[in-house]
Amino acid sequence: MLRKIRWVATGLILALAVVWIGKWTLNGGPAGSGSTGIGVSVPGGVQVGGPFKLIDSNGKTVTDADYRGRWTLVYFGYTFCPDVCPTELQAIAGAMHELGPIADQITPIFITIDPERDTPQAIGEYVKLFDERLVGLTGSPADIAAVARAYRVYYAKAETKTAGAYLMDHSSFLYLMGPDGRLRMLIKPGTTSAEIAADIRSQMNAS
Ligand code: NI
Repeated sequence: MLRKIRWVATGLILALAVVWIGKWTLNGGPAGSGSTGIGVSVPGGVQVGGPFKLIDSNGKTVTDADYRGRWTLVYFGYTFCPDVCPTELQAIAGAMHELGPIADQITPIFITIDPERDTPQAIGEYVKLFDERLVGLTGSPADIAAVARAYRVYYAKAETKTAGAYLMDHSSFLYLMGPDGRLRMLIKPGTTSAEIAADIRSQMNAS
């Protein structure tokens, strides 16, 4: 299963690279700002992300439009995740801390890919363990499927031997979205807080 995730993740990077190189060739040169960080910088035209309608930890409906004018750092996962999600959320929290006052312009968002178990209350309590500023979003299975599709997120229930308990396979990129709601950078899993902070800073400086 892990290998499957790696394949999907590699596929995503390759697909973006192809689009990027394609655009570069079309425009006759590099598009936009150069990337100094570890993430994959992508030109504005790449379609990743888009409109969504989800539910926050207070049970209130939120849409992508609520975050227009702010930077968002979006991550998909689930509260029962034993390893990758807690590590990534810790890295996000660390990056927010490193960024100091400019973190005020950024909203880190955790979107569940396990809406069956991640109720608004559960996801709210979970994200606050990492950082008070983290927003946890859930939604109907259909709305979660739609937002995951928009962000090119892979997820699937993994088979488990224990009845009732299950794990989820999912891709684990961080999506840095600009104030216009467009993707600015894909940050790969395992990136440190300091590197994430540097990536965000360079993208903010470039805009
Ligand atoms: Ni996870």
